[in-house]
Amino acid sequence: MAHRWTNTLTQADVTPRAAFLNRRQVMAGLAGVGLAGMTRRASAQEALEPNTWEEITSYNNFYEFGTGKDDPAKYAGALTTEPWSIKIDGLVDNPGDYDFKAIVSEMTVEERIYRFRCVEAWSMVIPWNGFELADLLNMAGVQDGAKYVAFETAVIPDEMPGVRYPILDWPYREGLRLDEAMHPLTIMATGIYDRPIPNQNGAPLRLVVPWKYGFKSIKSIVRITLTDVEPPTSWNMSNPREYGFYSNVNPNVDHPRWSQASERQIGGGLFAKRIPTLMYNGYENEVAGLYEGMDLSEYY
Ligand code: MTE
Repeated sequence: MAHRWTNTLTQADVTPRAAFLNRRQVMAGLAGVGLAGMTRRASAQEALEPNTWEEITSYNNFYEFGTGKDDPAKYAGALTTEPWSIKIDGLVDNPGDYDFKAIVSEMTVEERIYRFRCVEAWSMVIPWNGFELADLLNMAGVQDGAKYVAFETAVIPDEMPGVRYPILDWPYREGLRLDEAMHPLTIMATGIYDRPIPNQNGAPLRLVVPWKYGFKSIKSIVRITLTDVEPPTSWNMSNPREYGFYSNVNPNVDHPRWSQASERQIGGGLFAKRIPTLMYNGYENEVAGLYEGMDLSEYY
């Protein structure tokens, strides 16, 4: 069934109905298993104040707009995010150029309040709106041989002053193992605080993988490729000793130039306290199983 998905089709049309229902059951099962952990964490998170809109949208990393924390808020407004097309290709049944609005109209968008931990040892709590990446990948129809998912950010020199400089080898690239990509915690964010995601945070859609350092959460995505080989990723290409493919939050494995054992919470003023960093950023119950048997100091 090698047809292209268009916005007139629903998810049930592109996924054989039995597989679709089966996946829903699997998801329900996963949610059931995860629920105890989720509920526990949700109550732990109730003590965590989400950061303010102002904090979340004015202290950013988006090197396509400059390397300063305030550059994205200053310059990302110039990015044209409508219309926005996302190419999905590689090992999928329904490759093609998907319109962002058409995709979102097919997805279940919900709120996810996640801890966000940057590799630079600062953190925030962000109330995202988004949908599960798994739903998008299932819509595209992942083929049997696929093992990894590669992502690319737009490169628009007229609108992105940072890409005129070779700070990174553009486009910004990221990747996940397929099981990480299909994990229910992994979302494509389209909003913050129930408002469309601002350009500086990665409009119109960006990845959020809450148990990994923030640089894995690639912004303003224009291409998603299913592949059978581990894809190259920007920070690993730029400095393989400091940045690995996995980049799971791990207080026991330091960055070569600084400790990862604690983090500075953004907000709360000059005397904001440092708090201990949690294994997998607090999502250990949900994701530790993905890495069973792996030496985390080797696969950092
Ligand atoms: N995506 C792109 N395309 N370019 C970037 O420079 N920076 C990453 C990640 N995604 C980055 C990116 C880093 S280092 C972090 S910490 C987060 O985005 C920051 O997300 P935020 O600005 O929404 O907090």
